Amino acid sequence: MKPAILVARAVFPQVLERLRQYFEVESNQDDHILTPAELATRLQGKQGALTTASARINEDLLQQVSGLKMVANMAVGYDNIDLAACHAHGVMASNTPDVLNETTADFGWALMMAAARRITEAEHWLREGKWTKWRYDYFLGPDLHGATLGIIGMGRIGQAIARRSMGFNMKVLYHNRSRLSPEQELAANHAVYAGKEELLRQADHVILVLPYSPASHHTIGAAELGMMKPTATLTNLARGGIVDDAALIAALKVKQIASAGLDVFENEPKFHPDFLTLDNVVLTPHIASASEKTRLAMAQCAADNLIAGLTGATPPNLLTLK
Ligand code: GLV
Ligand code: GLV
Repeated sequence: MKPAILVARAVFPQVLERLRQYFEVESNQDDHILTPAELATRLQGKQGALTTASARINEDLLQQVSGLKMVANMAVGYDNIDLAACHAHGVMASNTPDVLNETTADFGWALMMAAARRITEAEHWLREGKWTKWRYDYFLGPDLHGATLGIIGMGRIGQAIARRSMGFNMKVLYHNRSRLSPEQELAANHAVYAGKEELLRQADHVILVLPYSPASHHTIGAAELGMMKPTATLTNLARGGIVDDAALIAALKVKQIASAGLDVFENEPKFHPDFLTLDNVVLTPHIASASEKTRLAMAQCAADNLIAGLTGATPPNLLTLK
């Protein structure tokens, strides 16, 4: 008999078809977001699950299910999964790194450039019929070329963002738990390691690409925003909770920084309603990895991991406790 798995959210039909070659698949193509209780119920008798950030895999859940062997998360981030609890319950977990690096880096640039050059704000103004004349000082913003880019979180996505800055002749500062090798720094447009405060004080554009964990909670709050230049932009494509959204709103209101680009929010898909009252923030619904090719690659990668893990092989992206 094929092992049973749960695909917890809607996914590409061809990926479901592939999973059906190996497993008895319970799918959720109408994409109902499962409550923790529903998830526990649906996982009864399942050996595997393909999940996204909306599924919390924690001690509470794992105590209620038995026989679960593997959770394959379709995301590079895995802050929704308690690895220690998985370890204690003998459950393997995997993520989908690498396949989304370049697509996510592209989007980081799009968001940062939109925030700096006020693209969505100008478009709203145009759509509202306000464009009756050109003026020398309409929608002025900071330049990107020649400016200093500050990258907090210099993993594979951060390095891909840095490489793109070569064409903009930017100086790159980065802050990370560990320093890159000299070769990696060179490849990342000669990125220079800096303390967080030094980076925030010097950067013209700050971009956040670090994983969420209790240690990175509110990496950017009121104090950090106060260190930034009044002409600076802040872009978050990592996770909600890395920025203190209320503090950011307060800073944007008084133009303590010029603008922000946000793809992730605290408590998303809910978010602080005051963001909607601000002109100087570009808001997108957690779509940094959303190219057709990359989302399919992420789903296939999650499926590869699940197939490996439940057929006795080592999942290529097995997460282990650090
Ligand atoms: C995806 O990121 C989700 O919220 O499930
Ligand atoms: C998306 O946010 C991911 O972690 O892949």
